[in-house]
Amino acid sequence: MEGFHRKNGVLHVDNIPLPEIAKTAGTPTYVYSASIIRQQFSALRESFSKFLPADRQPLLCYACKANSNIAILKLLQGLGAGLEIVSEGELYRGAKAGFTGDKIISTSFGKEEEEIKACLSANIHQFNIESPDELAHVNRYAGESGKVAKVLFRLNPDVQGGGHSKIQTGKKTHKFGNSATRILELYKIATEMENVEPVGVSVHIGSQVSTVSAFKPAFERLAELVQTLREQGHKVTRLDIGGGFPIVYKDEDLLDLDAYARWVNDIIVPLDTEIQMEPGRYMVGNAGILLTETLYIKKTQVRNFLVLDAAMNDLMRPALYDAWHGIEPVSNADRTPVTYDVVGPVCESGDIFAANRDIPEIREGELVAIRSAGAYGFSMASNYNSRPLPAEIMVDGDNVATIRERQTMPDLIKGESIPDWLK
Ligand SMILES: Cc1ncc(COP(=O)(O)O)c(C=O)c1O
Repeated sequence: MEGFHRKNGVLHVDNIPLPEIAKTAGTPTYVYSASIIRQQFSALRESFSKFLPADRQPLLCYACKANSNIAILKLLQGLGAGLEIVSEGELYRGAKAGFTGDKIISTSFGKEEEEIKACLSANIHQFNIESPDELAHVNRYAGESGKVAKVLFRLNPDVQGGGHSKIQTGKKTHKFGNSATRILELYKIATEMENVEPVGVSVHIGSQVSTVSAFKPAFERLAELVQTLREQGHKVTRLDIGGGFPIVYKDEDLLDLDAYARWVNDIIVPLDTEIQMEPGRYMVGNAGILLTETLYIKKTQVRNFLVLDAAMNDLMRPALYDAWHGIEPVSNADRTPVTYDVVGPVCESGDIFAANRDIPEIREGELVAIRSAGAYGFSMASNYNSRPLPAEIMVDGDNVATIRERQTMPDLIKGESIPDWLK
């Protein structure tokens, strides 16, 4: 059986029982299912192939900020994905995983000199531009390397979309994108520059967007802008309509992918351009869990604290976004539920994965799975409290691989030194 499921009461990933992974890899450890990632990629592809003409199939550029482990990148590269990057580091990872420049798009918000130069030397497909100064920088460095960079301008459509205020990006008060009026100016400026070629417009309104109706006004504004640009004599050959597809954390209504694909077909396809998308969370979110062990049960007069060996530094979504993650025992899921506050060992009251959560009774030393942790989990992890970064494991059927080793104590101080005058 593929993905996460129970067999004889024990949580497995594909054919592997999670206790086996804990025994060899230790905890806390991220565990990913390759088969779920494949399924997610295929589900997106299938919806588009049902509703969009064969010559308008989108390039699905995986937004690797969601999870940038090079094994995950390799898996998606092998499936035919493109790559959306936001830093020189992500470009480096993409290259290591075998992505070639023609499938890489850069959407970073504040592009740095070295990053722009690295993207130019990798001949990436395009730069999505956030501001006039950024455009000038790309033009300048492209000129220095004798290249002409293709650029898209990110539209801020002033619409609301996204599951939490901190992951919304499409309102005019947000730092992202440009007004339609500004893009008309930017296109004109870019046309007069020697080393950039304006080819289109991008939009991304936020993450965990659960209704098609949230995307629709953004698409409509994009379509209006394309029309105006063309009326002004500009070429628009590429549109990047962003990511934001939601996953299941609790009991959310999921985006109806077919309905979404129909809107793309109705609004974007008639514009007769190449189409790109930037899904991140959707590809990997439900494909990962954080496997952790119970250190203690601390009872106070008012609370039962389930103290795990995973903490906010390993998975910061609950602390950062008040995110809800499913939490369940790896074995003995048939015990009577107890109400817990599920916490980690970090010295912050914010180090809490769930408050007042009813979970089948868990005892000291037992394993716990935190669900839907494949996206924005490890990629946001830190060494806070000098805790080593967790290991990452990928499972594919009967195959189990360590795709990132747990950090060691020496890793924690790598690059640090004590000045002579303190010795
Ligand atoms: C420009 C851009 N594209 C794509 C994404 C990926 O979003 P998601 O993971 O919700 O698909 C993000 C997320 O922050 C983003 O900023």
